[in-house]
Amino acid sequence: MRVLGLETSCDDTGVAVYDSDQGLLAHRLYSQTALHADYGGIVPELASRDHIRKLLPLIKTVMAAAGTAGDELDGIAYTAGPGLAGALLVGAAVGRSLAWAWGVPAVGVHHMEGHLLSPMLEAGPPAFPFLALLVSGGHTLLADVRGIGDYTILGETVDDAVGEAFDKTAKLLGLGYPGGPAIARAAEQGAPGRFYFPRPMTGRPGLEFSFSGLKTAVATVAQAQELDPRTVADIACAFQEAAVDTLRIKCQRALEQTGHARLVAAGGVSANARLREQLTEMAAARRARVYFPRLQFSTDNGAMIAYAGAMRLKAGQHETAAFTVHPRWELQKLGVPGASR
Ligand code: KG4
Ligand code: ZN
Repeated sequence: MRVLGLETSCDDTGVAVYDSDQGLLAHRLYSQTALHADYGGIVPELASRDHIRKLLPLIKTVMAAAGTAGDELDGIAYTAGPGLAGALLVGAAVGRSLAWAWGVPAVGVHHMEGHLLSPMLEAGPPAFPFLALLVSGGHTLLADVRGIGDYTILGETVDDAVGEAFDKTAKLLGLGYPGGPAIARAAEQGAPGRFYFPRPMTGRPGLEFSFSGLKTAVATVAQAQELDPRTVADIACAFQEAAVDTLRIKCQRALEQTGHARLVAAGGVSANARLREQLTEMAAARRARVYFPRLQFSTDNGAMIAYAGAMRLKAGQHETAAFTVHPRWELQKLGVPGASR
């Protein structure tokens, strides 16, 4: 099964060809970071227009690199949601049109299912069932994963996503956009212990998250300080410790509750080196194993969409001629492919 994957849900244009026998044949990413940097965040209309400019040339490049012609594909997968409506529509329209022209099926993929399955592209992938921590710019959740489409959300954020907290804190500290990598870089220079921030919702039972209070705690401290480079680094360090520690505590609690021995951590924030270190240590101490995608597949990419699409096409799922996108879409309502809904 050979699938072309298209990711256009936000500010990255990602394209890949995945083959279920031969693995990943080619993948490319065009990042719009520079386009949005001046605005301090993503401008949806600029994002859609740039996807229109970049998607087709990128598809041509990736198809050539994979040595694949359109009619050799078994299907096309595109991100159908959640994400920015205009940006999603670009991928959906191009994906559906190419599928029609090449006479192959198309399938709309859930962006977070793409992230969830991204470690499957690595050597020694996790077997089902497992616990998944999904941490991105828009989502923070723990899920019990029993198979493709068989997901139970155990806990999610009641307010901000952790990636959003990284982005907002970076903005507050004058570190620019996107905030996650900027905070991580600054934190490396910071002295641990000069500041301390709360670990939200860890003091009571449950697997819910909350990150807006942490962001406010940082704002209060930052306002009372002269923001010289050393103070910025020290605050970034304390913020990262608080965010990572919170995720680690909740993962540990969820492993205990579910009895799972495998933990998958995926989504943009799973690129964070401190988080990878903390989760790896915590899992090892419990004789559990943690699985990450390679760094470049932690953040948005076409490879995870091609992979998730291949799994769903294999199970016989594909779209009718009409297409839609879902700017809001509940992961838990996906359903197991092939099973009656
Ligand atoms: O999965 P992703 O690329 O896009 C969404 O689906 O949202 O995640 C983007 C998020 C952003 O909030 C970004 O700041 C964060 O992931 N991020 C990081 C790191 N790299 C990206 N957060 C912490 N540390 C990083 N190294
Ligand atoms: Zn994402």
